Amino acid sequence: MVDIQKLKDEFISLYGSNGEPEVYFAPGRVNLIGEHTDYNGGYVFPCALNYGTYLVVRPNTTRIIRFASTNFDFKTEVPLDKISEKVDSQWVNYPLGVMNELVDQGMNMEGIDLLFSGDIPNGAGLSSSASIEMVTAYALNYIFKVKLSVLDLVKISQRAENEFVGMNCGIMDQFAVGMGKKDHAVFLNCDTLEYDLVPLVLQDYRLIITNTNKKRKLTDSKYNERRAECEKAVAYINRKRSIRNLGELSLAEFEQLQDLIPDETILKRAYHVVSEDARVLEAVHALKTGDLVRFGKLMFESHDSLRDNYEVTGFELDTLVEEARKIPGVIGSRMTGAGFGGCTVSLVKKDMTGPFMEQLEKAYIQKTGLNPDFYLAEVGDGAKKI
Ligand code: GLA
Repeated sequence: MVDIQKLKDEFISLYGSNGEPEVYFAPGRVNLIGEHTDYNGGYVFPCALNYGTYLVVRPNTTRIIRFASTNFDFKTEVPLDKISEKVDSQWVNYPLGVMNELVDQGMNMEGIDLLFSGDIPNGAGLSSSASIEMVTAYALNYIFKVKLSVLDLVKISQRAENEFVGMNCGIMDQFAVGMGKKDHAVFLNCDTLEYDLVPLVLQDYRLIITNTNKKRKLTDSKYNERRAECEKAVAYINRKRSIRNLGELSLAEFEQLQDLIPDETILKRAYHVVSEDARVLEAVHALKTGDLVRFGKLMFESHDSLRDNYEVTGFELDTLVEEARKIPGVIGSRMTGAGFGGCTVSLVKKDMTGPFMEQLEKAYIQKTGLNPDFYLAEVGDGAKKI
């Protein structure tokens, strides 16, 4: 947990003691099930974590924005008339993208000092970027009285990432980070943005996140490639039935139409999306009726499909899930996020927490030569002022 007073002291030593700064927070997220469905207009079921990004902030009565972070050495100053210019491939592009979007919405931006501090690992698939975007959007909306709803801020943050940063993500991460609620999972229809906060009653089980610590490479290009493959599937299906996206099809409807897709790879990608959507619906039902064993099985099935049909897992994620399967008290495990590295999320009997971590660590090191990290996830609230 981040020490807020220490963070404020650090802010003062960086920027001076001219007035009390404010502190905001936005969480990271873990997706329980529903992977690579969001940009297909499908369902997702993520929750916000109690880890995330803190932002200490204070207007500075100049025409300059000053950026610093406790996580990165890179600091910089950006004059207000230069906020539409990207700064190499630096982390400040996330907040800068959000500022641009807010200015487009009529925000009267003034000079401001910012110190970010995250306690979620970067690039681990737990939405550190959405968390930086949302904490910026939430804080600036408040400070400069823009009066946008949290849902608007979610959309703005996604646009900042798509258009300014250049990562063509769906809406799941920003939505979970903005709208999450303590001890609830967010069941979201990514087409209509209708959602339901479902109490996350895990009985004798807990969620454990395991980081492969594999350096992710090519994630963005592979991600965009999968998006393009899904669009191709839609184009094939449109020869007979007009749909906007794969999320519109039930599994039964898809089976009727699948012969329209001549390409084996595209067919597998589309099958993943449509079957994953069905798994989300079933998982939400299982959670609501207290059937955690079923929920866990669906997590395993989701992973299998991401490995075999969508092909976004890789040796490290597969090893974590295969080894977790062998450990008593583990009823579900799967990769979470975009894939190609990052983390798994497992549903583990509470009193098996210690043995789970010991056994998994040993097997994983032996097979991959990498050290995993474990996070005992607690489900927290969405973006807020502290
Ligand atoms: C990343 C993206 C999300 C989503 C997931 C895969 O986290 O940012 O929008 O597409 O991958 O489910």
